[in-house]
Amino acid sequence: MDKLLIEGGARLSGEVAISGAKNAALPILCAALLTAEPVIFTNVPQLKDIGTLLALLGQMGVKVERAGDTVTLDASGLNNPVAPYEMVKTMRASILVLGPLVARCGEARVSLPGGCAIGARPVDQHIKGLQAMGAEVRVEHGYVHATVPRLKGARLFTDMVTVTGTENLMMAAVLADGETVIENAAREPEVVDLANCLVAMGAQISGAGSDVIRIRGVERLHGATHRIMPDRIETGTYLCAAAVTGGSVRLTGTSSCYLDAVIDKLMDAGCEVVSERDAISLSAPARLNAVSLRTAPYPAFPTDMQAQFMAINCVANGVAMIRETIFENRFMHAVELQRLGADIRIDGNTAVVQGVARLEGATVMATDLRASASLVVAGLVAEGETTIERIYHLDRGYERLEDKLAALGAKVRRLT
Ligand code: UD1
Repeated sequence: MDKLLIEGGARLSGEVAISGAKNAALPILCAALLTAEPVIFTNVPQLKDIGTLLALLGQMGVKVERAGDTVTLDASGLNNPVAPYEMVKTMRASILVLGPLVARCGEARVSLPGGCAIGARPVDQHIKGLQAMGAEVRVEHGYVHATVPRLKGARLFTDMVTVTGTENLMMAAVLADGETVIENAAREPEVVDLANCLVAMGAQISGAGSDVIRIRGVERLHGATHRIMPDRIETGTYLCAAAVTGGSVRLTGTSSCYLDAVIDKLMDAGCEVVSERDAISLSAPARLNAVSLRTAPYPAFPTDMQAQFMAINCVANGVAMIRETIFENRFMHAVELQRLGADIRIDGNTAVVQGVARLEGATVMATDLRASASLVVAGLVAEGETTIERIYHLDRGYERLEDKLAALGAKVRRLT
């Protein structure tokens, strides 16, 4: 298994390009299932999760062509609306094929995603929504089996704000008979990017980006070309990496407009942040101030940035309170950060981080995607060498991580 070796202490500086968003690309690639015409996607990040999804689509009969960051999908030969356990277990987002398959084929068999390191993460809301649209859904032998001659528009309400739930139901509704209203919808920018792609394919959607989305079903969708939005979590991670080293960086191909809550906190920490149309620059003081935060659905502070901010607080001046309200078990990075000398106390869904003057390199283990990112951030500032094991988690969500960090002056290498 690959490991990452980081020699801490280098101040990051320079420029790096941000990739397309994983969490936008995953649902948007699934949208290609909704039409028999080819759809072209650009700015698709080269990540393990994207490879997994393309393999899944391929075994359903979708023709997949990939050239650099462009992916062309042709679902005219879609003949096997099944997502097997072997593929779904490695990537929860595979559940995003459920809505489009039921809408286009009138049938889908998708494995339940099962357990997940950061919490239980059920898919009951996805199922409830499809049932409200007239699908007969049975959960048997670990699979969700949904059938319906044609989905019917309905008023849908989700018990909590769910990102992939909103996306799945929006994709199901675009080919339904009549109007669907999704209330309590997720407002994440990735939901808006998906809606924009669906509209380019001929869907009728309004309200994406608000908590009420209206979809008027159409008979069929057509081909289109869509550029995936920049990855706001990758952007935020590099901002934290630069901030913790007292660095000064410019990130291109991204925008601060998706990152208000994160940039606000970085400025509270003492960083100077300058936004351009397609770039963000950050310069950080020698030592950051501690910043408290609470995660919540967009536009509040994203749970996917919580771990990276815990890392920067470990060496900040003062005490930070971090409250996680989305996932029940998302502090696994804390024990690994403690191995580097961090002072963190966990009480339920709150972590109290007392900044220390310095961290020390050690061997730590990546437990999930964003937890791994926090270990990288901490490793960049820890004295001596930090070895991060199980970095396959990082490969799921960060394109060419060590190349990009090295381009900014970090001393980092991969051991295979
Ligand atoms: C998405 C993101 C993930 C991010 C998360 C929260 C993708 C591919 N992944 O995950 O990176 O951390 O949003 O911003 O976009 N829930 C239920 N029942 C459901 C659905 C959700 O109880 O049917 C709960 C979950 O367990 C969780 C909360 O709702 O506690 C929010 O989860 P959700 O927004 O659905 O997360 P994902 O869409 O899986």
